[in-house]
Parts: sequence; structure tokens; C-alpha cells
Amino acid sequence: MSIRTSVYLVGLIGASLVSAQTFQRLGTCPTLGCIFPPDQTDFLAGQLFDIRLEIHAPLNGTEASNNGVPNETFSLCIQRGKEACSDVTKYFKISNSALEKWSFSYYEDLFAKDSGTPVVVNVASKAYRALSLTKPGTYTAKLTYNGGTTTVANWLVREPVTSRRAKNVLLFIGDGMTQPMITAARLIAHKSINGKYQSLMQMDQMDNLGHQMTHSVDSFITDSANSATALYTGKKSSVNALGVYADSSKNSLDDPKVETLAELFRRRRDGGALGIVSTAFIADATPAALCSHTRDRSQYASIVTEFLNNATTVNSTLAWPTSCQMPDVLFGGGAEQFIAGSGSPGGADYYKAFQAKGYTVVNNNTALQAAGTKAKTLGIFSSKPAKWIDRHVLRDNLSGLKNSPIGDGSDATDQPGLKDMTLKAIDILQARTKNGQGWFMMSEAASIDKMMHVLDYDRALGELLELDDTIRASIAHLKAIGEYENTLIVVTADHGHGFDVFGGADTKYLAAQTDDRKKRGAVGTYAASGLSGYTVAEGSLPNNNTIVYGSEGPNFPVQWNPRYAFAAGFGANPDHRESYTLNTKGPRVPAVSSSSGYVVNPTDNTDGFNVPGTIGVDEAQGVHSLQDVSVFANGPGSEAFRGVYSSVDIFFKIADALGLAEA
Ligand SMILES: *[C@@H]1O[C@H](CO)[C@@H](O)[C@H](O)[C@H]1NC(C)=O
Ligand SMILES: *[C@@H]1O[C@H](CO)[C@@H](O)[C@H](O)[C@H]1NC(C)=O
Ligand SMILES: *[C@@H]1O[C@H](CO)[C@@H](O)[C@H](O)[C@H]1NC(C)=O
Ligand SMILES: *[C@@H]1O[C@H](CO)[C@@H](O)[C@H](O)[C@H]1NC(C)=O
Ligand SMILES: *[C@@H]1O[C@H](CO)[C@@H](O)[C@H](O)[C@H]1NC(C)=O
Ligand SMILES: *[C@@H]1O[C@H](CO)[C@@H](O)[C@H](O)[C@H]1NC(C)=O
Ligand SMILES: *[C@@H]1O[C@H](CO)[C@@H](O)[C@H](O)[C@H]1NC(C)=O
Ligand SMILES: [Zn+2]
Repeated sequence: MSIRTSVYLVGLIGASLVSAQTFQRLGTCPTLGCIFPPDQTDFLAGQLFDIRLEIHAPLNGTEASNNGVPNETFSLCIQRGKEACSDVTKYFKISNSALEKWSFSYYEDLFAKDSGTPVVVNVASKAYRALSLTKPGTYTAKLTYNGGTTTVANWLVREPVTSRRAKNVLLFIGDGMTQPMITAARLIAHKSINGKYQSLMQMDQMDNLGHQMTHSVDSFITDSANSATALYTGKKSSVNALGVYADSSKNSLDDPKVETLAELFRRRRDGGALGIVSTAFIADATPAALCSHTRDRSQYASIVTEFLNNATTVNSTLAWPTSCQMPDVLFGGGAEQFIAGSGSPGGADYYKAFQAKGYTVVNNNTALQAAGTKAKTLGIFSSKPAKWIDRHVLRDNLSGLKNSPIGDGSDATDQPGLKDMTLKAIDILQARTKNGQGWFMMSEAASIDKMMHVLDYDRALGELLELDDTIRASIAHLKAIGEYENTLIVVTADHGHGFDVFGGADTKYLAAQTDDRKKRGAVGTYAASGLSGYTVAEGSLPNNNTIVYGSEGPNFPVQWNPRYAFAAGFGANPDHRESYTLNTKGPRVPAVSSSSGYVVNPTDNTDGFNVPGTIGVDEAQGVHSLQDVSVFANGPGSEAFRGVYSSVDIFFKIADALGLAEA
């Protein structure tokens, strides 16, 4: 492990000398000859993948070569260990592929962008589809081009673990969730006496803890698409890419694919049941990455097509003999992709399309709870999912949103939460699994991320507490149905946000001041940060001016808007205003567009003080950050999640627990 880590670091440093820059010609391809999967790729034995080769001939710019004409004679050979290197067609016993040609342009730096002078790159390429390596060991893929230049990719097929330890896997993803958020959620929801907590988060009580490094293949900050791809395929990819490496062609469906955990589970566990649950829209990156293969996460219609059908039906020329076609459970928001005439595939009624293939379709929590467990079930509960705080504390905010899942312009007032969806999904998967093959479910608390983006810390922590409550309830439910000992539970995130709490704020004093510098005096640090006002019952505060919304029971705050609130900051934010009070009117909008870019929203936190932005003025929201994220695990195979490792290792650890590798 340590040897391999050092090899990896040397590789990274080498590549960074040529490619550490804002704009890259093509991520993972610092030379003019590109191989996908790129250098430093690890495979599960038997995992399917595509190979893409690209020869670049920049017409102009600092790398201009060969008058912009790519040499069309190039070849790839594959070598295992010290065996001879044999041509890719011989190695995989496949016929040669057709030559493809295209061109693209990019800016070499910000000066070139300002002056509107992109570099033009002409490309010659070939792709080999749906291959796999089963023998463990190290491999060298060598591309020879431009009359003798070579690019080498070192691959590793990891030693297969073929014995199955876990029957079921329940993977929770808190999108954008970091340890500072978990700490803040604990502070507001769990009472402490003299510094000692009287109860803990469920995440605090898991058996195993690790940290994962989230970097992309070609950037150190990820988005949810490429980070989900890393978690589900064991392959680092690029921002916006789902289940593929990003090539340079315009067609976003022809990029080289890699097989996902869900596809492997379906292919290797015949009779296993598959569930996908999210509080976001179901075509959003984290749920989509389990089944989709596209360079562009915003292709929602093709993502939904892949849920119902598969990649082969999306493009029959790009052979992909694996899929998670028709998952047993698909619960989330995103009615826009299902209602006829909206953003559904071909504008068709996709509720009907799912029903025609045998699905039970439900559109509200009452119908979800009443549904049987025998049929495949599609649950789409809104067009714009409401947040936990609005569903539980500020219910008036559910009115007027016109987000009905059936598109009749009414409000979705009966939306299930993550817990409702996840517990029902367990029952359906449990009823549908055959031949003792178990089930795999991903359950996502999506709006921790969405609410952190808009600096709505309270709503983000409400979503996080809902996730924690869901994990707690799922463990209890699995115990009750006798499946806990068979189920690997993994809880992690896909990336961070630079959020942390640094003190308390007297929101009454802050609002009463008229000058920003005086307002900042309301922030108490160190000793003046005080104690949590969130877990103190109504009337017991020194001043009874707080809005009290009724206790949500243990594990949630007693009140969400205390006079003495936490004061938090963000590492990457637009211009905005902080007052440290609950945004009672619905999710926060911190900044608005103006002729000079995004500026403070004049109607947001009108009592607050100004905080200048730290990112480009074209950014309306906060952005993701670098930090490692936590991994918590219980159940069979969970010890493997201890330590510090890469995001891609999550895929291998889950695949190993399920015994998905080919012997
Ligand atoms: C490269 O060539 C293209 C097409 O002729 C042109 O538009 C672009 O400005 C050139 N870029 C540079 C950096 O010279
Ligand atoms: C293209 O590559 C081939 C094979 O490496 C070489 O023989 C040929 O001279 C190259 N052609 C040009 C125009 O560079
Ligand atoms: C399918 O992929 C092939 C090869 O990349 C491409 O030529 C074709 O246009 C694609 N078809 C669709 C419908 O995207
Ligand atoms: C893809 O979908 C088609 C049409 O439903 C089906 O015939 C084919 O078996 C599917 N292939 C895979 C790998 O799921
Ligand atoms: C919930 O869905 C059922 C079944 O489609 C429907 O009859 C009922 O009116 C819905 N309830 C609400 C509150 O929308
Ligand atoms: C605090 O204020 C609430 C709302 O006005 C009121 O119902 C409650 O009785 C008050 N409690 C005390 C102890 O004064
Ligand atoms: C949200 O709910 C709060 C409390 O119930 C209410 O005061 C506020 O007006 C609501 N906002 C909207 C936009 O409905
Ligand atoms: Zn995000």
C-alpha cells in the first residue's frame, strides 16, 4: 500500500509540471498522445471499460505541431507485468476500430480568454468498447504515435476478493457533508451539560471511521458528478462527467465508459435488487452516476432513458453490454423529467413509460407508504423538492411553490423525507431480492450541498440531521427485520464546502446596530461564544423573544432561531450579508445579478453586515472545497473503511465486501 502510494505521488508531481493550469487542453493528457483509462488507473478484476486513444495536433498556440495535422498512424499495445507488449486488437481479440476525426478549441490562459484567441486542436482518435482485464497484476498500455513518440499508462488490476462478506449494501451519501457540518449539527441538536454531550449523532456512533481524498483526475476540486463516478467506479474522472472519462469530442455520449457498482451488482448478482433514493431530482449527478454514462451531467433526458433502458438504447453503435436497467426502487424529485411535454425523454409521459414496464408509480408520501412491496416502484414526489426545515418547521413555505409532481400547477404538500423513502425502499428491496442475492441501495441527502451552496447553513444542517436520523432509523429497521448482520452500511460524502462555526452571535444586539463594524461586535468568540441556544426549551432563555417551532423530538434542535445563534463562515462565497438568523421565507438567496456581476441580495438578511466575496463575481453561490471527507461504516466488511485513502478506494472496498470481482 505505501509503495503504491508513493508511485502515485511521483506520477502526479510529474504530470503537474506540464499541466498545472487553469485551462487544460484535455485533462489527464499532458502530452499530445492520450490514453483513456489514463495512467494510474486501478480496475476490479472483470470490470468493463472502454479504451479511447486521441492524437492531438494543435494548429497554433505554444504546443503547435505538424501544421495542425494529426498523424493518423498510431497504435496501442498492452503488456501484463513483464510479458511481451501485444497490439490491443490481439490482446483483447477484437477487430480494429474505425478512425474518428474532430477538432476542438480551448484557451491556454485567462489572457487568451480576455483577447478571444483560442487554440485550435485537430484530433485523430480510435475507441475500443466494453473490454475487461481479469488477471490481477500491473499492466502497461503503450501508445506509439507521431512516428515513435510514446505515452504510457500504468494500470493495476487489484487482487480479487471473491468471497462475499456482505449480502446487502446500504450506501448513504451526504452530498457536500464535512466534519465541521457534522460538528455543528451535533451542537444544535444534542444537549450538552458542562461540555459533555447527553446524546450523540448516529454518525458519531458508527464502528469504523476513515477519511477519503476527493480530488478529480484533472483538478483538485471536484463536483458531484466526477466524485460520484469515483465512488461508484473506482475511477477518478473530470468535472461534469458521469461513468466516463472525459474525451475531447463534441458528442458527450461517446466518451470512454467504465462499469459502475450498480451495473456490476446487476451483472454479477443475478436476482439482486437495486435501489436509488435521493432528496434531489433523480437525474441529478449523485443518483445518475450509478447508471449513466455521459460527459455532461445536465443531459437529464438521456439519464432517465438510461434508468429505464440502458446505454445501448441511447446509442446502439457504442456497445455497452452492462446496465442497471429498471432499478427496483427509484425515489426522488425531478418531475420535470417525467411529465409529458416537459424535460422528459422525447417529451413523452415517462410515468406511463415506467408503468408500461411494470412499475408502480407513486407521487406522494401517503401513496408511498400505502404501496405494496412486490413491484418495482418509481416515486417522484415534486418538481422542486422542499427542504427538511420547510417540511417540518416552516410548513407555510410549502404553499405557492407550484411544484406538484403531476404538473397540474398545485403544490407538493405531501412529500416524503429521506427517512420515509429509505425505510420503504428497504422493504421493497427485501421483498424483491431473489436467490439470496441481497440488495444494493444508495440513499442521498442531496440538499446538504444545495443549501450550503446558497450559504443557508440552517437548512443544510436540517438536511444533515435528517440524514443522521435516517441512518439511525435504518439500523433499527434492519435489526428489526433480521438483516443488520448481513448489511454493510457506509456513510460518506462526495466533497466538502468550506463551512465552519467560529463563535456565537447575539442576533438581537446585531440587528439593533446600524453600523457594520458595530454589528460585528455581536459575534462572540472563544469564551463569549457561549452555549447552544438551540437545545434550550422555550421560556428558559434570558429573553423570551425567540420563535419556537415545537420540538421535533430527540436528535433535532428544540428551536431553530434562538437569540444566541451560532456564527459561521464559508471559505468561498459571493458578496453577501450575515445576520445569523433563520431564513424563514424559504431557502436563502445570498447574491443577485447586476451589471457588475453578483452583488449582495438587498432583501437577504437586511439586519446583517456585509461580507465581501472571495470568488469571481460571476459566481452566485459558494463553491466546493478541498478537504477530505469522513467515511463511517458498520457491518460485514466495514473494518476496511478505517484509515485515510482515495475516493476510488470506496468502490473497491464495497465491491470486495460484495465479492463482485471475477476470480
Ligand atoms: C488559432 O487559430 C484560430 C483559427 O484560425 C484563431 O481564431 C485563433 O485566434 C488562433 N489562436 C491563437 C492563440 O493564435
Ligand atoms: C506518421 O507516423 C508514421 C508511423 O509512426 C510514420 O511512418 C510517418 O512518417 C508519420 N507521418 C508524418 C507525416 O509525420
Ligand atoms: C452514436 O455514436 C456514434 C459514434 O460516436 C456517433 O457517430 C453517432 O452520432 C451517435 N448517435 C447518437 C444518436 O448520438
Ligand atoms: C438494453 O436494453 C435493450 C432494450 O430493452 C435490451 O434488449 C438489452 O438486453 C439491454 N442490454 C443491457 C446490457 O441491459
Ligand atoms: C396522493 O396520491 C394519490 C394516488 O395518486 C392521490 O389519490 C392523492 O390525492 C394524493 N394526495 C395528495 C395530497 O396529493
Ligand atoms: C414565551 O413566548 C411565547 C410566545 O409569545 C409564549 O407563548 C410563552 O408563554 C412565553 N414563555 C414565557 C415563559 O414567558
Ligand atoms: C415560510 O414559513 C414562515 C413560518 O411559517 C412564514 O412566516 C413565511 O411567510 C413563509 N414563507 C413563505 C414564502 O411562504
Ligand atoms: Zn455542490
